[in-house]
Amino acid sequence: MDARSRMEFLQAELTRHAELYYQFEKPEISDTEYDLMFRELLELEAAHPEWAAVDSITKRVGAAPVEGFEQWRHGVPMLSLDNAFGAAELADFDTRLKRFLGRDEAIEYLVELKYDGLSLSLSYEAGVLVRAVTRGDGTTGEVVTANARTIRDIPLRLKEEFSGEVRGEVIMFKSVFASLNEDRISRGVSPFANPRNAASGGMRQLDSKLVAERRLNFLAYGLGAFDGKLPESQLGVMEMLADLGFGRQSQHWVCGSVDELVAVTEQVLASRAGLDFGIDGCVVKVNSIALQRELGNTARGPRWATAYKFPSEQAFTTLVDIGQQVGRTGVVTPVAHLEPVYVGGVTVSRATLHNYEELAKKDVRVGDTVIVQRAGDVIPEVVGPVLEQRSADAMAYVEPTECPECGTQLVRVEGFVALRCPNRKGCPAQIASKLVHFVSRKAMDIEGLGEKQIVRYLGEPEGNPLLTDVPSIYALKDRREELLGLERMGEQSVANLLAAIEASKNQPLARFVFALGIPLVGERTAADLAREFRTLEGIRDATADELDDVPDIGTRTAEEIHDWFREPENESLIDALLDAGLEPVEGAVPKGDQFAEKVFVFTGKLEQFTREEAEAWVMDLGGKAAGSVSKKTSYVVAGPGAGSKLAKAESLGVVVLTEAEFVAMLPEGMLGA
Ligand code: IVH
Repeated sequence: MDARSRMEFLQAELTRHAELYYQFEKPEISDTEYDLMFRELLELEAAHPEWAAVDSITKRVGAAPVEGFEQWRHGVPMLSLDNAFGAAELADFDTRLKRFLGRDEAIEYLVELKYDGLSLSLSYEAGVLVRAVTRGDGTTGEVVTANARTIRDIPLRLKEEFSGEVRGEVIMFKSVFASLNEDRISRGVSPFANPRNAASGGMRQLDSKLVAERRLNFLAYGLGAFDGKLPESQLGVMEMLADLGFGRQSQHWVCGSVDELVAVTEQVLASRAGLDFGIDGCVVKVNSIALQRELGNTARGPRWATAYKFPSEQAFTTLVDIGQQVGRTGVVTPVAHLEPVYVGGVTVSRATLHNYEELAKKDVRVGDTVIVQRAGDVIPEVVGPVLEQRSADAMAYVEPTECPECGTQLVRVEGFVALRCPNRKGCPAQIASKLVHFVSRKAMDIEGLGEKQIVRYLGEPEGNPLLTDVPSIYALKDRREELLGLERMGEQSVANLLAAIEASKNQPLARFVFALGIPLVGERTAADLAREFRTLEGIRDATADELDDVPDIGTRTAEEIHDWFREPENESLIDALLDAGLEPVEGAVPKGDQFAEKVFVFTGKLEQFTREEAEAWVMDLGGKAAGSVSKKTSYVVAGPGAGSKLAKAESLGVVVLTEAEFVAMLPEGMLGA
């Protein structure tokens, strides 16, 4: 395609997508895809201004207002922001500003969160809310005052006699979104696609009672028209907004260099999944209002600010197939095979559908356009179908009745939603995944025995395979010749493999317990068990109550562990392993007992040592370290940036220590050791 046709194509596509987004609230592409197309068009127009359409979408801000609401012209236009993707573009932004201002000194910036919602301008007269207007096309928006009045954090009367426009974003908290959707699904109403659509659709309801039901929130970030004296900095504006009564203050950071900007945005990106509202990036603003004035605006937006965009956490793609996966415990789960799509910073082609009940609820069908989500480090999931795009012949998914691996009739365990293959001893998928887990890096860590080898040795030689179950790993030493006989297994690799297997016999107890694959027992719980009971015998013999007393182990996990050790099949597994010569290294003896009975939780940033070090000291002194705060917690040691754990400690009345106070509790010499 030549540049000119490409520009026409982009212009048409962007117009169509903007309409889908603003007018119909039914986007078909992710924000990132839109931004990238938009940027490509901007670049092409800069290179070929003669081909730019007179009504190009790059010259407009939002969408034309919808009918049904009164129109209002903003006192000061509601502009848009330029985007920066990645650290290099932040540096470009800084360089551009310095060049424009003709200065070398560093520019101070204020970084704010970029809320993913609907922008709103609130007009106050002598402190009284008189009008709320949506952005509309940037110049003229829709009057939605009655709707705005339903939002609790929009003050109807300010604490001061302020006259002017306050700007901010209407959002829906993720927790509200989840509960509204749960309710909608149970009533058979189709769920909202995401919190932003729910918020922006909400504000456009003509009946404000319906708006109130959406439990929306408002976060203020700036001023529009205002005749009074402006503060000297953007930070001052934030303080002024707080003083006026905009209670819910956004997080913000002052940065003095591009390096600091990069560090802050990285920190925000890392904490994104834990926020209760959606953000699509950060907004970087020049802090000095005087410099903001000097920089001024372009037609599209202020020169003094840029949106540092994060990868979109949701995307649209096609569901190619629904496959099945058999786990270690025989649970069969549906897996979505997708047309590869870029989301949350990676390309995703498989996503979880959780379980068959969830799948039936979502009713996604092969061939559907689906919304895929990947937030933080979590496994990508299919949120739901885009019903408007479903083809007429799409068939509802039918739950399997037989195990895809061994053909055994599947069962539904009472009290659980999961479908399970009951053929624990014979199902090749279950045996293979148990073995893969047992040898994995965080478990027994047997190098040279990976998934590929395991699957192979479970089938070869035919009739008398090298591996049949977990204990058979330790009998491989008697089958050296056969191992050597397998293609690509030389003397050295066989020797290395057998040595790795031997060495694993003396792994620490915690690894061994984790390797057993007890349901609900992850790495951390396994370590807790090893530390608490010190010996395998101790864990085996513990009562459910004793297990429940361990910090971080809940009643359900305690019961699961207790029952697991009493199943004959598991008893014989452990006996067989002990017979094979396994001797896990048991817990070390503590150096003191100052912290006996005390449970510590570390949260936030620690300056003088790592969390792991601090936890090790606590354990050395007879105490316990836990990951989450509960009634059992004795102390929470909180550093800068501590969040929900600190809040929980405060609400439970748990003693909160600073890092220095914790250090003061340690015996002399421990910190330096
Ligand atoms: S400042 C002149 N600050 O992002 C525009 N905007 O792309 C200055 N937004 O429609 C806007 N969080 O609604 C600003 N902390 C924040 C923001 C923010 C979200 C939205 C805003 C605007 C869009 C700009």
